Amino acid sequence: MSEKKTAAHQVLARKYRPQGFEELVGQPAVSQTLSNALTTKRVHHAYLFTGPRGCGKTTSARILAKALNCEKGPTPTPCDECTSCREIALSSSLDVLEMDAASHTGVDDVRQVIIETVALAPSRDRYKVFIIDEAHMLSNSAFNALLKTIEEPPPHVVFILATTEVHKVPATIASRCQRFKFRPVAPEPLAEYLAVIAKKEKVAVEPEALSLLARAAEGSLRDAISLLDQCRSASDGKVTVESVREMFGFVPQDLLVGVAKALLDQDAKALAKWLKTIYEEGVEPAQLLKDLRAAIESVYLEKLGAGSGAEPAWQKALSGASAESLGFLLKRLNRALEELRYGDSPRLALELGLFSALEAAHDLGAWVARLEALEKRLVAGGGEIPSRPRRRSRRRRAPRPRLRRRSRLRPRRSVRSTWSPRGPCLTPLSSRRCRDRRSRSAPRSRRRRERRAAPAT
Ligand SMILES: Nc1ncnc2c1ncn2[C@@H]1O[C@H](COP(=O)(O)OP(=O)(O)O)[C@@H](O)[C@H]1O
Ligand SMILES: [Mg+2]
Ligand SMILES: [Zn+2]
Repeated sequence: MSEKKTAAHQVLARKYRPQGFEELVGQPAVSQTLSNALTTKRVHHAYLFTGPRGCGKTTSARILAKALNCEKGPTPTPCDECTSCREIALSSSLDVLEMDAASHTGVDDVRQVIIETVALAPSRDRYKVFIIDEAHMLSNSAFNALLKTIEEPPPHVVFILATTEVHKVPATIASRCQRFKFRPVAPEPLAEYLAVIAKKEKVAVEPEALSLLARAAEGSLRDAISLLDQCRSASDGKVTVESVREMFGFVPQDLLVGVAKALLDQDAKALAKWLKTIYEEGVEPAQLLKDLRAAIESVYLEKLGAGSGAEPAWQKALSGASAESLGFLLKRLNRALEELRYGDSPRLALELGLFSALEAAHDLGAWVARLEALEKRLVAGGGEIPSRPRRRSRRRRAPRPRLRRRSRLRPRRSVRSTWSPRGPCLTPLSSRRCRDRRSRSAPRSRRRRERRAAPAT
């Protein structure tokens, strides 16, 4: 890596910028397609790299520029030794122009940097490559000025646009480019990559600290490497889980596990005790809910067979919980986070969210047990139906008001007749209470009995 040799004090993220497609982490589709295009010499004149921050867009644009202009190229494996490769890696090549659209948004910038130079032949290399970073920041008129050039550039020109917000790039521009989607990197490969860097840098790091950093980076390699860099500077000797937690304000593990256990055991008393500790230690409610959700999610995915990133402490703590109850807890925690975001009292949102999660887990557990019992009985050939699970807090219902049933024989309201089965009724049907009290007040069964007992005439 030529960049590594030249700079004495470089931040790790720059020092470990991949210099070839094979070094890119977590973007196999992009590396493969671009490499194939270079091998078969099917180079497009405009590329659009999209994806979240820090997952390799600018890096890939530079690798592609090197691949096109390497003395031994165009090749998917640039040599990294020729003048072109070295200059491109240092961003000092005359034929590879990088334009930061975030600070050069206007039509004049586009005219000056691109339109006026695009027709000139490359000064030394094979291609003139324009890398427009953060392309979504260009103004509408700047995009319009580019339109024609991007559609039909001279044969020696290649455009590479990189953006985190592809929806802000006009469709007219996007449709003229070949599009490559960069993906956020999953925590496991991210942690593995951090371990490689830590080893190269001779930094002692606990594996669990690495997975904590990887999760905190939320898919961004740049963020992950920067966090490791920060830990290295702050630690004296070894980077531990606790030092990472303290440094970035992560909630202590024992507190998180305690809350999760209280929720799964439906232990309201224990939950109240943990809440007291949370307030005493000044833990941010939102951070607590996020960390809890992340930890439970990792175990949940593992139980579904869709992941393997759960920490051993969490695997052990939640080993007795079913995937269903964890899924239910996740939904409740997510809802609590939403309510916290839109409410005016984080503390209240936290309490309500956690206590409602506790109730829900209880109900669900009872219902699942009942269904399982039913299933067993059905398989065994019938038997008694197990009793319904009782809700823990039964509300007393107010007695229902007794409704009098209307006689089926009575005509409908709309008929507005004064006829009644037991004689004339004096008030109109729409607003009356039937005056024939004797017949109405007698219970039906008694009336029926009387009728049966009456001698036939
Ligand atoms: N796919 C990747 N593989 C390895 N390192 C990466 C990758 N993506 C980003 N990085 C690291 O993050 C830094 C910034 O990457 P960059 O390509 O500028 O991200 P962006 O997608 O925001 O343009 C790089 O210098 C490198 O250290
Ligand atoms: Mg970038
Ligand atoms: Zn080269």
